Amino acid sequence: MTGPDVPEPLHEVTVSVNGVRHTATVPARRLLSDFLRHDLALTGTHVGCEHGVCGACTILVDGAPMRSCLMFAVQARAHELTTVEGLGTIDAMGPVQQAFSECHGLQCGFCTPGFITTITAYLEENPDPTAEEARDAISGNLCRCTGYQNIVKSVLRAAEIRASADLGAPPLIDADARAGEAPP
Ligand code: FES
Ligand code: FES
Repeated sequence: MTGPDVPEPLHEVTVSVNGVRHTATVPARRLLSDFLRHDLALTGTHVGCEHGVCGACTILVDGAPMRSCLMFAVQARAHELTTVEGLGTIDAMGPVQQAFSECHGLQCGFCTPGFITTITAYLEENPDPTAEEARDAISGNLCRCTGYQNIVKSVLRAAEIRASADLGAPPLIDADARAGEAPP
């Protein structure tokens, strides 16, 4: 039992984040999102609802998108975590980051790390989505300030960039045209 006079038991947690092992001592109830932000200073992962609804806190756990606000840090032991910081840098952006930059897929950017991680995992499974499939892929992530149209374009453009990375030179952007495949 814990309370004001009973110290909370602490646990040592070692996790691999973006290929780097980190160890910290935390209470059992420390959310993984808080662990990343406050214990590891990886503030790219954002926190919105803390109820698993908005998707802002999405990270990759062994390559699969997960709401980090719905996991405890202790549950991440022995898993490989990837946050938005692990998907590229300002000088070497990953394909989804590059696509968001080209297509203006963000306004305030608060939701963006969750979209980037979600779309990265999605394109691994579905490298050539239609606009309708792109809309479905992002339906679990909430953005409070865009009409989603440019985020859909970004998904399609990211697919192009990924494909061109295999083939050589980047293709001309046709995400605008493809985004019109399905009604908004
Ligand atoms: S903060 Fe985790 S889903 Fe909203
Ligand atoms: S860009 Fe502002 S919430 Fe998505």
